[in-house]
Amino acid sequence: MSFSLYIDCSGLVEGLEKHRCLTNLHETISRSETVTDTRSLSKGSLILGFVDDVLCLRRAGDKEKPVFVDFVGGKAGHRRKFGGGKGQDIAKAVGLNKGVTPHVLDGTGGLGRDAFVLASLGCTVTLIERSPVIAALLQDGIDRARLSPETVGIASRMELINEDSRLAMQTMATDGQQFDVVYLDPMFPHREKSALVKKEMRIFQDLLSGDPDADELLAPAEALAEYRVVVKRPRLAPDLAGKEPTYRLEGKACRYDIHAFKAFSSDQ
Ligand SMILES: C[S@@+](CC[C@H](N)C(=O)[O-])C[C@H]1O[C@@H](n2cnc3c(N)ncnc32)[C@H](O)[C@@H]1O
Repeated sequence: MSFSLYIDCSGLVEGLEKHRCLTNLHETISRSETVTDTRSLSKGSLILGFVDDVLCLRRAGDKEKPVFVDFVGGKAGHRRKFGGGKGQDIAKAVGLNKGVTPHVLDGTGGLGRDAFVLASLGCTVTLIERSPVIAALLQDGIDRARLSPETVGIASRMELINEDSRLAMQTMATDGQQFDVVYLDPMFPHREKSALVKKEMRIFQDLLSGDPDADELLAPAEALAEYRVVVKRPRLAPDLAGKEPTYRLEGKACRYDIHAFKAFSSDQ
């Protein structure tokens, strides 16, 4: 990979221990370097650091807004207050319109937007994210959401694991664990066009080099889900692992492929 990641410690007021989201970063990212003055870094380097106690990922020399997770305000806050509730496609996809609030395993956590929507609607969500950098951004967002009275209830239903879900899901299934629903949203090239997403996508692509092994998520997900596996795909993308779902929910920007195994009890 051709990027350098620097950890900017100048914004860490009370030391790393305070920020549990960073605990594993230094061990897991061999390319990272710690800096206290980012001005000398070459343009385009990625910098992870705190700005006003918010963990941010940004590019050196880039004036655009950094990437960070905000569940309290911003778009997530707006959607929480004014979003379409259980009528949203994602809610229907996981079965919330059947009068159940499933325990969901989100095997591709990312920045936690989908998981937060589901947790806002009452689901308990276990998220797995393999990138330690994305996981740190997400854990920081969850931690801050737990400090706000508006979101503490929602964020306390979200638990993050920083692992590769292909292995983690296999281990969970071997241990006899089950989730009502497993939700997957692996990266797919050129999926959305808004300027914000494009910038985020560029950083994601530099950091993560896509999800070329996405097809390998489906089988362990199927082994772990009691009721269904939901796969979020761009509208025209091929089926994950080439496997046709039981049915699809088609939206404007994306579709949800539902691999259903068992009806929720209120269906029966
Ligand atoms: C498109 S993003 C998910 C966005 C997320 N649904 C959201 O709402 O923010 C895909 C994420 O899945 C993660 N991912 C892909 N394959 C994974 C795997 N095998 N284990 C864990 N995380 C994985 C990537 O690192 C990336 O952060």
